[in-house]
Amino acid sequence: MKVGVPKETLVNETRVAAVPDTVGRMTKAGVEVLVEAGAGAESYIKDEDYIKAGAKVIQNTEDLFRDAGVILKVQGPLMNGRAKKHEVDMMREGAVLIAFLQPMANLDIVMKLAARKVTAFSMDAVPRISRAQMMDALSSMATIAGYKAVLIAADSLKKFVPMLSTAAGTVYPAKTVIIGAGVAGLQAIATAKRLGSVVVAFDTRPAVGEQIKSLGGEFVPLDVPHDQQAEDAGGYAKEMSADFYKAEQEIIRKHTKDADVVISTALIPGRPAPTLITEEMVKEMKPGSVIVDLSVEQGGNCALSEKGKTVVRHNVTIIGPTNLPATLPVHASQLYARNVLNFLDLLAPDKKDIKLDLDDEIVKGSLITHNGEITGKNVAEAVKKANINFPSGSTTRSHW
Ligand code: NAI
Repeated sequence: MKVGVPKETLVNETRVAAVPDTVGRMTKAGVEVLVEAGAGAESYIKDEDYIKAGAKVIQNTEDLFRDAGVILKVQGPLMNGRAKKHEVDMMREGAVLIAFLQPMANLDIVMKLAARKVTAFSMDAVPRISRAQMMDALSSMATIAGYKAVLIAADSLKKFVPMLSTAAGTVYPAKTVIIGAGVAGLQAIATAKRLGSVVVAFDTRPAVGEQIKSLGGEFVPLDVPHDQQAEDAGGYAKEMSADFYKAEQEIIRKHTKDADVVISTALIPGRPAPTLITEEMVKEMKPGSVIVDLSVEQGGNCALSEKGKTVVRHNVTIIGPTNLPATLPVHASQLYARNVLNFLDLLAPDKKDIKLDLDDEIVKGSLITHNGEITGKNVAEAVKKANINFPSGSTTRSHW
């Protein structure tokens, strides 16, 4: 098996899909690994480090895409500025691709992959089941995002976060409100607590209450009269009724009024993010307070957040960051590379060849194109509906 690791092409993408540790594990098992020159530079990994781990460093982008049967990437394929060709066009017919494809948002790329007969797996489609935990790259990246969201908020806040007792008087701790206590939210709670903040957290799933408390946060249950289960059979949040969200806003509002920081992470898989912070609620917040809306790429939990921008509205700083994992490339690459390697182990246990077990829930869930067909759940249908003309080569999208 020949695995290729190209340098990422998306603007501001600093991560790489393999690090010397994972390359070493592959080469020891007999896998031939090709790494594009400079692929790890923005994660502070030198070409020599890859060579020491047994990889061959390839100078020419096209050579790498042509020679490798399995391509490991962070971002889905794009127009490659170095080769001046689309990455799908440089791949071999029948090659395997593992990356964050975000297929529903990139239907044109999915069609291109199918046309090229690429067997494409999307790391963001790996089901969040126990057996897949070590391949769960979305969780790895959400952990980084939750941590970084708090640091960004603390940096934008014009006051201390912790309580300080000084000779000049006492400084009281900042209050942080976390909306949505999934992977990112729990890490945000832990980080805000470490900085010394008072933390209050909300989630529609009562089951997370214990986890919030164990991190030192206060869990405010959403005691809203309704006849819906907040959780589906897989443990994911379900979309609730408009009345539920209205009542939830009223509960949250009591806490955002005197908050210094609000981190919102509420997400329902495959659905737009629920609006939980209205403009009216922002107006009532303290001047100088900060909102970091992690769900901005799904439309945002705050009605006023803007994707990729920091805006000040009604004296509140509202930050809508994209691709926070790329701001911590050392650990983002380390964690992602390990998730990808674990995924590759599942596909090729003998490290010789990819053997597709389509009865495996993880394989089936993450397989987006195979043998010229679109296999991803709901993806083929979405392609049909969208009636897309392709190919196109966007270079501006951002995923994690
Ligand atoms: P997750 O699915 O683990 O957590 C989302 C949480 O929101 C769940 O606990 C769910 O129960 C809760 N939730 C859903 N509806 C709610 C409601 N109405 N009220 C309160 N809680 C509610 O998701 P994860 O992985 O933690 O990601 C969180 C968000 O962060 C997502 O929108 C994700 O796309 C985003 N993200 C953003 C990044 C960036 O750089 N901007 C990077 C990584 C993740």
